[in-house]
Amino acid sequence: MGGVVALGSVRSCGTTTAAVALAATWPAGRRVLVVELDPAGGSLAAASGWAAEPSLVTLAAAARRDSDPEAIWAHCHELPGGAAVLAAPASASQVRSSAGMLGGLLGRLGELDADVLVDAGRIDPGRVESATALPAVVGGAGRVVLAARPRLADLQSLGTFVETRVGLDGPLRAALALVLIDDGPYPDAEITEALGVDVLGRIPWDPQAAELLTVTAASDRRLRLSPLLRAARSLAENLVDERAPVPVPEVGHDETPAAAGATRTRLLRRFRAPAAVATAGTAARNAAASDAVCTNGSSPGGEVAR
Ligand SMILES: Nc1ncnc2c1ncn2[C@@H]1O[C@H](COP(=O)(O)OP(=O)(O)OP(=O)(O)O)[C@@H](O)[C@H]1O
Ligand SMILES: [Mg+2]
Repeated sequence: MGGVVALGSVRSCGTTTAAVALAATWPAGRRVLVVELDPAGGSLAAASGWAAEPSLVTLAAAARRDSDPEAIWAHCHELPGGAAVLAAPASASQVRSSAGMLGGLLGRLGELDADVLVDAGRIDPGRVESATALPAVVGGAGRVVLAARPRLADLQSLGTFVETRVGLDGPLRAALALVLIDDGPYPDAEITEALGVDVLGRIPWDPQAAELLTVTAASDRRLRLSPLLRAARSLAENLVDERAPVPVPEVGHDETPAAAGATRTRLLRRFRAPAAVATAGTAARNAAASDAVCTNGSSPGGEVAR
């Protein structure tokens, strides 16, 4: 049996790219499948130049007769490096209806003889159950990885999600980890301390590699040595290595939900006004990070370059 890793984000930041980069660098000898389940509609078929079918929709139709997870393989496309992709249709309503029809099967992804990366897309903090098939997936997921940029606005949205959802929901909280996309002024430890969620790794902002990913095999020299794929390779190894039961993060573990919330609120104040409360070292890092941000292709305001 393989492992299931669900990836999502509270704000768009490069989740699909991270999922494809992980699939492209997944440790050799392990079959890997990407399941695109973004409730806003899929983007991988368009990015890869694939036909609209097969897809989640054709699988949903077939699953009326056969809910065996092995049925998935007949509905997949293939990335240049060989990883299978169950692509979502571009239409949000079709994703939702297909995911609804596939509820049982999605909860059985862990039975496949493959590691499964589920791109759960953007998670609406207030409607996590209704908006996605995440809960079904979480039931069988070793990990739920939230991607976020380590910047003020993104961390605050993430903090709200973690406070309102995760403190109340044991299985989701225990499975949760962060992957940070691009640069920002806050180090991993500070983010873990503030949010009570471990940082598994970082994915750098690398537009050239991100563009090539859906059309070029990871063995291509331009991709193999790229910062994006180097980071993805090491993250993929970590995800495979940690396939043991996921520990609940230490921070806030013994606190009541109310106390944990107060702790996070206090720590998040640091994210609100980093310059005002920063130590000299943090202030220097902030300045260096914002310089780096301005030179690496993304905007200092933190929007994903599209
Ligand atoms: N690490 C990265 N480096 C450079 N460009 C990136 C990176 N990640 C994503 N991008 C670019 O940003 C755009 C959006 O990326 P992507 O589709 O992965 O985001 P997303 O979070 O999945 O968005 P959505 O929420 O709409 O699904 C794409 O043009 C992609 O090439
Ligand atoms: Mg996406």
